[in-house]
Amino acid sequence: MRCIGVLSGTSMNAKEFILCEIKGEEKIEVLKYKSYQFENELKSELKNISINGIGALEKIAEMHYNLGVSFAESLKKFIKGEGKLDVIGFHGQTIFHKEKGKTIITWQIGEPVFLSKVSGLPVIYDFRKCDIAMGGRGAPLSPIIHRILFGKAAKKIAVVNLGGITNITLIKDGEVISARDVGPANALSDFITQKRLGLEYDKDGKIAEKGKVIEYAFGNVVNFFSSIKSASLGYEVEIAKKNFYEMTKREKVEDCLRTAIEISVALLTRSLKGFKPDLVILCGGGVRNKFMVKRIREDNRNVFISDEFGVKAELVEPILFAFLAYMRIKGKKVDMRKITGAKKPYLPGKICKVV
Ligand SMILES: Nc1ncnc2c1ncn2[C@@H]1O[C@H](COP(=O)(O)OP(=O)(O)O)[C@@H](O)[C@H]1O
Ligand SMILES: [Mg+2]
Repeated sequence: MRCIGVLSGTSMNAKEFILCEIKGEEKIEVLKYKSYQFENELKSELKNISINGIGALEKIAEMHYNLGVSFAESLKKFIKGEGKLDVIGFHGQTIFHKEKGKTIITWQIGEPVFLSKVSGLPVIYDFRKCDIAMGGRGAPLSPIIHRILFGKAAKKIAVVNLGGITNITLIKDGEVISARDVGPANALSDFITQKRLGLEYDKDGKIAEKGKVIEYAFGNVVNFFSSIKSASLGYEVEIAKKNFYEMTKREKVEDCLRTAIEISVALLTRSLKGFKPDLVILCGGGVRNKFMVKRIREDNRNVFISDEFGVKAELVEPILFAFLAYMRIKGKKVDMRKITGAKKPYLPGKICKVV
């Protein structure tokens, strides 16, 4: 089956598209990957909704529509000349995710009907809400693909996704034993770089490398995340971004960025301590922050980038959505019990088909 995965993560750095040939649950071949930039206005309005919390109803409705149209336009380019395709898995853009006791509210926007309309394909979407309906936390979802792609590489493996948020998957003897979000990966660093320097991110971590740790800010944010019990994060990272920025706005920018990296590394290292993995595999865009990876390597043993295990770090999450769409359309259930806490295996996502 030729399955497409479409997503944009919390970093909102790009609209990402992948085409995979999937012949079975463990037989996934990547045929093509491409990322497209968001239209500038759309991106800044989106950031306002999710970062500044100014989500008036009309604005959210408009964004939901505009995002759907924007993804559909990029999809049209992506599939041009590709011949027969089978299904699309669409994550949408998270504008809110919060665990409130037993209640979990998650919201991804981007109207799927437009993707179906331009492709004539079924679009599978709202994976997180469906997981919550099945008793799960709705996140993280990527561990299911981490096990398939990397699960046999050693006896005890930690797969670490460095996106806006860090999430870890602990795998033992080929089975996921637990998975959780641990805190920001690039979120703090990106936010400071964008607010103070007007750049998208600190390329290769070059600025952070020159800075010193601001101890009070480091302690404050590390303690904040250490005290959170939720296994999935979203809202908390948005709060931390704003607090960290306010707390450090009179400090040198290189010191802020160094501190942001040290916070991410410390939270990750702590979360791996008890498990003592034989192998740590890093994926997500954050692996391109050379300084962050260097610091992770200094504090942990046997750390590799997923590229060295045959899957480019940027492709792991897009593959996930192509895979989930495949499972839904094939009528195969996913078992998220050890991952999100879902009560039983279920068919992932909702189906949208415009005919
Ligand atoms: N060359 C680079 N140097 C530093 N950071 C990078 C580089 N390339 C990508 N990144 C980081 O990766 C992030 C995107 O990672 P991604 O996995 O797409 O995150 P998300 O899933 O949250 O969208 C960027 O926002 C940036 O922080
Ligand atoms: Mg991204």
